[in-house]
Amino acid sequence: DKVCLAYSGGLDTSCILAWLLEKGYDVVCFMADVGQEEDFEAAKAKAKKIGASAVYVEDLRREFIEELCFPAIQCNAIYENVYLLGTSLARPVIARAQIKVAQKEGCIAVSHGCTGKGNDQVRFELGFYALQPSIKVIAPWRMPEFYERFAGRNDLLDYAEKAGIPVSSTKSKPWSMDENLAHCSYEAGILEDPDVTAPEDMWKLTVDPLNAPDTPEDFTLVFEKGLPKKLISKGKTITDAVELFLEANAIARRHGVGRIDIVENRFIGLKSRGCYETPGLTCLRSAHIDLEGLVLDREVRALRDQFVTFNYAKILYNGLYFSPEREFLEESIIASQKTVNGTVRCRVYKGTFSVLGRSSETEKLYDASESSMDEIGAFSPQETGGFIAVQAIRLKKHGEAKLARGEK
Ligand code: ARG
Ligand code: SIN
Repeated sequence: DKVCLAYSGGLDTSCILAWLLEKGYDVVCFMADVGQEEDFEAAKAKAKKIGASAVYVEDLRREFIEELCFPAIQCNAIYENVYLLGTSLARPVIARAQIKVAQKEGCIAVSHGCTGKGNDQVRFELGFYALQPSIKVIAPWRMPEFYERFAGRNDLLDYAEKAGIPVSSTKSKPWSMDENLAHCSYEAGILEDPDVTAPEDMWKLTVDPLNAPDTPEDFTLVFEKGLPKKLISKGKTITDAVELFLEANAIARRHGVGRIDIVENRFIGLKSRGCYETPGLTCLRSAHIDLEGLVLDREVRALRDQFVTFNYAKILYNGLYFSPEREFLEESIIASQKTVNGTVRCRVYKGTFSVLGRSSETEKLYDASESSMDEIGAFSPQETGGFIAVQAIRLKKHGEAKLARGEK
């Protein structure tokens, strides 16, 4: 029987690979390139050496940006007020590509190295089942025969030695990381004490804001229908989605933008402490929010904020991407963004992102003379007196009743 294993090249999934082989499976390894820093060739060679019958490396960067990160920007997605969902956004494209490989190779099962306590097991497996309802899942970290045998890192190291698995000489870091084009996450290990400050050398994507350049860096973003279409920096204009995202990352990284440190609520009900750095996406999302102020209708915005933003983030976080509710919300995101066309001039400086100005050639909801404090404009000031009088009807009743009851 054939199994398709999500392989990372690390100690855990290398041992899982050897263990699946030991159990008699034929194992095909799958690696997703979502923009993480990785020596794919070395990992491929390692999987082959351990005994994988094939190793697939799929470049998912464009679909990750265009299909996941962009809708997240369009609806300003955020989880529990702080987390920009970097890991959650990558899981659907990874699950989808893994299932494609499993189908191509005629696998009866897929396998992964997620723990039994996290969100990722839920995200991957809900994706697998939605895309290939008949698939079987082998999750070793939830199987007693596996976790009782490999109780700690030393057991894995011993097993690796016996199975002839090359162990990289670089010392493993005292936390777990997950990196892609949108972010890098840090959890577990020494970070499990929520009162332990993350060491400065943990952060790998961004410079420490304290050491960021003393000169701010300015750039311009152009949005169409809420999507970033152009990034103009140092006289260069970038229009390709992946290139644009990479450039936003490069700018934000050198100025230390996008670090957060939170305690979040995992779907299964546990609390977890996580540190994240999300350079480019932080800027793109903030610029998008700013532009909406200029060009988005007040009531569309309010409905979107109340019903779409919160739920889209929750759906992604909880691993329900391949669901009818996600499809439904995504249609409404598109509908909400028709007028989100314009330009935002941006600045990054010592860990902060700020907006220098915004404009739109096509959208005219904002009328400077109508809003001006210095001009009479299109409607008579007398009319708003009536507006206030009518709004006051109910409040006067409320005030009278309170006075009658002798309340303050
Ligand atoms: N807590 C974050 C999330 O659930 C990050 C998870 C990181 N995953 C990992 N395998 N290290 O989205
Ligand atoms: C894991 O538990 O495998 C990683 C963390 C998570 O999925 O939330």
